[in-house]
Amino acid sequence: MKSHAEQEVLHAGTVCNGTLVPVWCCHRCMYSRFLRSVLFSPASVPQLTNSPTLIVMVGLPARGKTYISKKLSRYLNWIGVPTKGQACATNALKDVVIYFSKEHGQVAVFDATNTTRERRISIVSFSKEKGYKVFFVESICDDPDIIAQNITEVKVSSPDYLNCDKDEAQADFLKRIECYKQTYVPLDDEKDRHLSYIKIFNVGSRYLVNRVQDHIQSRIVYYLMNIHVTPRSIFLSRHGESELNLLGRIGGDSGLSPRGHKYATALGGFIKGQHIKDLKVWTSHMKRTIQTAEHLGIPYEQWKALNEIDAGVCEELTYEDIQENHPEEFALRDQDKYRYRYPKGESYEDLVHRLEPVIMELERQENVLVVCHQAVMRCLLAYLLDKTADELPYLKCPLHTVLKLTPVAYGCRVEHICLNIEAVNTHRERPGNVDVTRNPEEALKTIPDHF
Ligand code: F6P
Repeated sequence: MKSHAEQEVLHAGTVCNGTLVPVWCCHRCMYSRFLRSVLFSPASVPQLTNSPTLIVMVGLPARGKTYISKKLSRYLNWIGVPTKGQACATNALKDVVIYFSKEHGQVAVFDATNTTRERRISIVSFSKEKGYKVFFVESICDDPDIIAQNITEVKVSSPDYLNCDKDEAQADFLKRIECYKQTYVPLDDEKDRHLSYIKIFNVGSRYLVNRVQDHIQSRIVYYLMNIHVTPRSIFLSRHGESELNLLGRIGGDSGLSPRGHKYATALGGFIKGQHIKDLKVWTSHMKRTIQTAEHLGIPYEQWKALNEIDAGVCEELTYEDIQENHPEEFALRDQDKYRYRYPKGESYEDLVHRLEPVIMELERQENVLVVCHQAVMRCLLAYLLDKTADELPYLKCPLHTVLKLTPVAYGCRVEHICLNIEAVNTHRERPGNVDVTRNPEEALKTIPDHF
């Protein structure tokens, strides 16, 4: 029996540069499949240790530069490229040097206006001297409604205007923009043709891309061309309780338990009550998510990329079985749960790479309900809530609970909605002793109850 990962390669492989690379999801056209296979194969996580990248934001105040910087940093960190935002103009470049030389940073995002050509020339020559690549991201917006909305949502509520009248704050901020306009020189098609950059017009209604130098820059461009700011919510839910959940067995492809079916019905009622416009529903290829979605009465799309983590030789075992049959593996997983890969299976790190096309499509869509699995939901949640690789495998995603995520200012507001249908607990905390020499009692200390 092949593991999920191996099957994936056999069923959906694409030949790229003579190598078979996996295509992780069903997508509409061959070009998109090819592009995704090149951009998202796990082996393609860029290693930039020799030549880090400085992303330089350009634009007037209230053009969404901080929004873009934070979102891009979150995405790059999630795909495994250590990235940090640098916001203060005076010390930012010093901080960049420390971050690249001492903290193993690979990308820094310099979030300032950088509106004069002189300023940009000095950043380019500084970077050349240090051996950094530079990529400019310019946000241009001339739509007064978008600017006013940005000022109201993020600027007027900033510490600069604490205890100020809202209208006065708004007027003051518009004055600040006028000052910057006096000296603003946008990136120029001719004069800046040697630079690498993307210009984003009116929050993504048009783009201009120039001289993409490498893989990471092309990923940045692809990401920036997929995000949007239309208000929406993302709903995440695990499938209803499964027969194997009841027995404390991981993985497998069992159907729902009677309580699982009850949850699926309750989820249908909850979603109906939310009156969501054009809701898209996504499931994995596994029986338990499909059975859950069947109760919703809405068409759904199945993604193989959303399948649960492949536990390889441990599929369908209980945690007690794993301790008994593979005690060393069990301890190694506790030592580094994010990077640990089950023999013939996957790690959380593998899962993140498998899920990247899902995240990209999630960015493109508006309201979406993803019916998925414990490990998969942790990976999606870590991206949406900017959690580290250490936190990710321990995020709490209980059965029969919906998480509603709504983008606000620079992050997401999260609501936990428990639908009050009983279910087993499947969350195992990291035990205190993770040494391979520990005894079984210590290894099993945090095992959740099951039948
Ligand atoms: O127990 C349910 C489950 O979805 C398993 O199929 C999967 O292996 C596990 O959760 C992932 O959780 P953890 O990484 O904490 O073992």
